[in-house]
Amino acid sequence: MSDSRYSQPSDPTVSRRELFNSRNVFILAAIGSAVGLGNIWRFPYVAYTNGGGAFLIPYLVALLSAGIPLLFLDYALGHRYRASPPLALRRAGRKWTEMLGWWQVLVCFVIAVYYAAILAWASMYFIFSFTEAWGDDPEAFLMGEFLQRAETPHIGFDFVPQVAVPMLIVWILTLVVIGLGVRKGISRANIVMIPLLLVMFLILVAQSLTLPGAVDGLNAFFTPDWGRLAAPGVWAAAYGQIFFSLSVGFGIMITYSSYLRRRTNLTGSGLVVGFANSSFELLAGIGVFSVLGFMAAANGRAIDEVASDGIGLAFIAFPSIVSSTPVGPLLGALFFASLVFAGFTSMISIVEVCTAAIQEKLGLSRGKATLAVGLPMATASMVLLSTTTGLFFLDITDEFINKFGILLGAFAMVIAVAWVLRKLPLLQRHLDRVSTLKFGRAWLVLVGAVVPVVLGYILVSEFIKHITTPYAGYPLGMLGIFGWGMAGSLIVVSALLAFTPWRRGTRQSIDEDGLDTRYEEIMQK
Ligand code: ALA
Repeated sequence: MSDSRYSQPSDPTVSRRELFNSRNVFILAAIGSAVGLGNIWRFPYVAYTNGGGAFLIPYLVALLSAGIPLLFLDYALGHRYRASPPLALRRAGRKWTEMLGWWQVLVCFVIAVYYAAILAWASMYFIFSFTEAWGDDPEAFLMGEFLQRAETPHIGFDFVPQVAVPMLIVWILTLVVIGLGVRKGISRANIVMIPLLLVMFLILVAQSLTLPGAVDGLNAFFTPDWGRLAAPGVWAAAYGQIFFSLSVGFGIMITYSSYLRRRTNLTGSGLVVGFANSSFELLAGIGVFSVLGFMAAANGRAIDEVASDGIGLAFIAFPSIVSSTPVGPLLGALFFASLVFAGFTSMISIVEVCTAAIQEKLGLSRGKATLAVGLPMATASMVLLSTTTGLFFLDITDEFINKFGILLGAFAMVIAVAWVLRKLPLLQRHLDRVSTLKFGRAWLVLVGAVVPVVLGYILVSEFIKHITTPYAGYPLGMLGIFGWGMAGSLIVVSALLAFTPWRRGTRQSIDEDGLDTRYEEIMQK
């Protein structure tokens, strides 16, 4: 190799980079990562409150103008530089760009800490679907008996054992899958869980459509409110939804695509993943609103009185439905099992980003890296979330990490790669060279201009909103620690990590490169 950035296989104890068995397995794992809580409990409500059927227009525009192009950027970075975000961005640039990679790793760290709690609750609610443990009042049961939520928001560490036990199980299962590696762990988990998820979810939707009142729910969901399209907030909601839902901008797709063979059709895979994710989202909207239509009809209420998202939808609305129809336990079991499967495959991808980054930085074996990452994560998760104040922590952290973690991190990465390092033409040639569908200069314009403008606009408006109105009326001290403080610490910790020395050098070796590297030389010409 004449290119000085490549080193010959150096340390014989360092194994070749593990690769996905095939492109189809990668596509399955990428769909597994994308399809998660965001699809099932976030999308239906976001669409409903932002113009109903009319929302599909900003949604599709956001998907095509920013979601898919950013997905291709993640793929190109991971595939070209063969590493998780810190090393990939270091290879693309310098020490300070490595810091942007650590930022994405820390975002994953924070998300995993609370994602595990939601998976634990959903697992317990799968069991409760058969016992109807919530009795006549699911809200009182959730906040009281189950989560034992403190009366007022404050920082406290009173332990709640019935939440801690399933959380511990979720962490053990996640770390076993991650510890087994890309082929034996991540691939196999997705090969089993994604088809099962699809089957369960299709049965759930088909069953929901037969409920009385389902048509009213669907009318409420799809009826377009064209006037809403004039509101900038509706467009911001569409872009925000796409980024979280597609798992772009926070390191997952960089990491997963680094496990792909050299000659892999990247853009074709990206389109399959993007459209599969959106189709699942639409399916979730149909299922959720059919069920909400039934609930409204059964209680003689309007749809907007029963519609909600997130925790309210999953752990309050759905349990009410379970108790009000003979098919309820089946619907509940299918819904919570879907939530667990969709969430678990996303959880794996989120934790994998942290494991791969630490493995590369410290030159550890996979087993050691899994423990080095998993133990602190699981401990933080248990200490913060299985307490009487865990729900407050989750709510604030989720809001701030999405806005000032994912979106700000993605914005910084795009500006760095496109405008400071000026690597987009190289990455575009990389994409076009390995892919059958070539997007050429159109991709450059979308990533270099459209994405930064849109992200910049959303960030400024979110910043103003959060500065002027305390989020959800929480005390400023809590917002300061779990919101602003947490977001600010991402910058400090990522800088510290970037300046920690590498145990194993950073140059790309032929070992890591998977197969042949000759085309790199061609690309330089
Ligand atoms: N993309 C994942 C979700 O939708 C993180 O939940």
